[in-house]
Amino acid sequence: MSDAWTALLPQEPIRFDPDFAWGVGSSAFQAEGGDVPNDWVDLALRGEVPPNPGNGFLERYAEDFRLLAALGFRHYRLSVEWSRVEPERGRFDEAALDHYRAVCDAASEAGLTPWVNLFHFTHPRWLVARGGLHGPDGADAFLRYAERTVAALAPHTRHWHSQNESMVYVFGAYLVGQLPPKIADGDIAIAMTERVARLHAATHEIVKARDPGSTVATIEVYLDYHAENPDDPANSAMVAAVDAWYNGALLEGLATGVLPLPGRDPVEIPGLRGALDVYGFNYYNATALGPSSVTSWSDRPDAPIDAMGRHVYPGGMESGLLRAARALPGVPLIVTENGCPTTDETFRIRYVAAHLAALDRARRAGADVRGYFHWTAVDNYEWEQGYSDARFGLVGFDPQSKERTPKRSAQFFRDLIARGELRPSDVP
Ligand code: BGC
Repeated sequence: MSDAWTALLPQEPIRFDPDFAWGVGSSAFQAEGGDVPNDWVDLALRGEVPPNPGNGFLERYAEDFRLLAALGFRHYRLSVEWSRVEPERGRFDEAALDHYRAVCDAASEAGLTPWVNLFHFTHPRWLVARGGLHGPDGADAFLRYAERTVAALAPHTRHWHSQNESMVYVFGAYLVGQLPPKIADGDIAIAMTERVARLHAATHEIVKARDPGSTVATIEVYLDYHAENPDDPANSAMVAAVDAWYNGALLEGLATGVLPLPGRDPVEIPGLRGALDVYGFNYYNATALGPSSVTSWSDRPDAPIDAMGRHVYPGGMESGLLRAARALPGVPLIVTENGCPTTDETFRIRYVAAHLAALDRARRAGADVRGYFHWTAVDNYEWEQGYSDARFGLVGFDPQSKERTPKRSAQFFRDLIARGELRPSDVP
């Protein structure tokens, strides 16, 4: 084993109480795929991204849930594909809502608690044609969809997320123009920062009005920012400003109800303060920002590198969990996504073990971390990468028959969850 892995892996056993929430995360379009009327299908039709035939989850969800429950998982994070539920503006498809009701029920029957997320990066085609989520009726459209979907599914789930990674969505879709709608405009990015926070607060109210005892969790991916050239004061100042906006603004908004916005007056957002029961914390890797570059970062030149060229750096998970815990005292944390793109099962198991060790360090330093959801269950569509070696699943599938094959990492989780302990000797 390389010195870099040795330095990252746990040296002592790590205990997990029986009530520690072990789960897996997924998103609708990444797992279901199919010819749905959304913007990713349109990108594929234009040849800009690979097509997505799906991984079979659309038909095999009940089988997947039974398999995951047999491994010991007790939670499943899924999302609703907006373009299935509302394929045309204002026309809600009851059959699609029935499908998601059945998915939630099948999860519960298998022994998994469903956590339903309303928005995971994809936009219905009709919304794009009307100017997108940032357009004049984007917010109303989202809330109409949220109201309808929450009403339909509230009897079937008590755990909700308004959006996945709202800040990476703003960053990727509106600041750097990489995710659809591929806009690179600082003013729109700031306006969208406010909009996603307002949508979260309003969705929280919609859910609580239906079911006051439900759990609403935000989901943000922590980007542990570093300067590409820390000796350059301008680079460091830029990194501090991006970090204060990207990681800091929403934490402050949730804590105080007032959202700080770069270069603008802070805005008070009704209902934002305390609009969460759980803070969902996603983490993959650390990020180096240069004057015009975004790359992955590590404190060691020999850090292991995953199939998407990213350095493994669990230290960012530890510091990020502690930061969220300090910003939101009294709010429990769950790691709602962590995992890595690879075809090498030794790599995946080491990655997970190294991040569980970081989670444990954060816990011991005071962060109230109640669970860990692995990304993802069955290999899925990794956006621009499609179905490549960037495989995040604990379970593989045959592209023709869609038959499932659990990987070595699935066995690793099964043993870890059953024992309630991660032992250094369990890591290859
Ligand atoms: C996103 C997922 C994506 C994963 C791995 C997360 O930030 O929520 O959709 O598959 O990263 O890249």
